[in-house]
Amino acid sequence: MTKVIAIVNQKGGVAKTTTAINVGAGLAKHNKRVLLIDLDGQGNLSRGLGCKTKARNQFTIRDALLNIQKGILTNPTKGILTARYEKISVMPANKQLDAFEHSLKGDLDAPFYLRRYVNTLRQYFDVILIDCSPSLGLMTLNALVAADSVMIPVDPEFFGVEGVEQIVAAMTDVQRKMNPSLSLEGIVIVRRNDISIAKRTNAKNLRLRYGSKVFQTELPTSVKASEASARGMSLLEYMSWNHLARAYASLVEEVLANGRN
Ligand SMILES: Nc1ncnc2c1ncn2[C@@H]1O[C@H](COP(=O)(O)OP(=O)(O)OP(=O)(O)O)[C@@H](O)[C@H]1O
Ligand SMILES: [Mg+2]
Repeated sequence: MTKVIAIVNQKGGVAKTTTAINVGAGLAKHNKRVLLIDLDGQGNLSRGLGCKTKARNQFTIRDALLNIQKGILTNPTKGILTARYEKISVMPANKQLDAFEHSLKGDLDAPFYLRRYVNTLRQYFDVILIDCSPSLGLMTLNALVAADSVMIPVDPEFFGVEGVEQIVAAMTDVQRKMNPSLSLEGIVIVRRNDISIAKRTNAKNLRLRYGSKVFQTELPTSVKASEASARGMSLLEYMSWNHLARAYASLVEEVLANGRN
């Protein structure tokens, strides 16, 4: 059965996109058919996998959602690209998505468009990962309504239990009103090897509060993360022996084990 995982954190720069790319790449190495949906007008995920986002007439997630809004039927896989170096499918985004999001104000159906789109794609993929923007706005709401589960990368240097609680509150609200089967895939602690006291306390409190919902794997710092995305590939592809790449491989094992439970 297809699993749809939204990667969410309203804080910027906590490795949502890097995690989407590398978990996606890791699952693809386990022969899963993986689709990554870029749901951020910054287009970082698309570029990080070597996909163009600014070609004239480029079909992006904004167009897919616009078609759903207007009831225009197209081939469900229209516009889906293949990563430059890897066997991963990508639905790209560019800044038109932000204008589209603004245009949806007052549209009562707006939270459901991504769900409708994703449901047309379940038959083609084993895993669909949705990379959200740093906000809990309407697009992230769409991701929570469309997803089966939520993965929350957290950098405990700047973000502790309260920050995660805001996301969990948003999830609970969506569960109650729009998507009863939504679950927490897990919280991923990022950049473990910086050793500030605040960070260690926050990480410890997260484990106390969320227990087994915090992945065992913590993601260390590596300058190779940005090098890989500048080359348009996952770190797993670029440098599989790197310590961060190995951490992502072990995170992928945990995600696969979650799926078996
Ligand atoms: N473990 C890591 N070690 C060092 N640098 C990292 C690590 N993970 C990600 N980065 C780098 O940190 C920056 C932010 O990461 P990323 O874009 O994945 O975060 P994000 O949460 O998606 O950001 P945004 O909220 O803007 O979408 C990028 O330059 C990325 O290459
Ligand atoms: Mg991002």
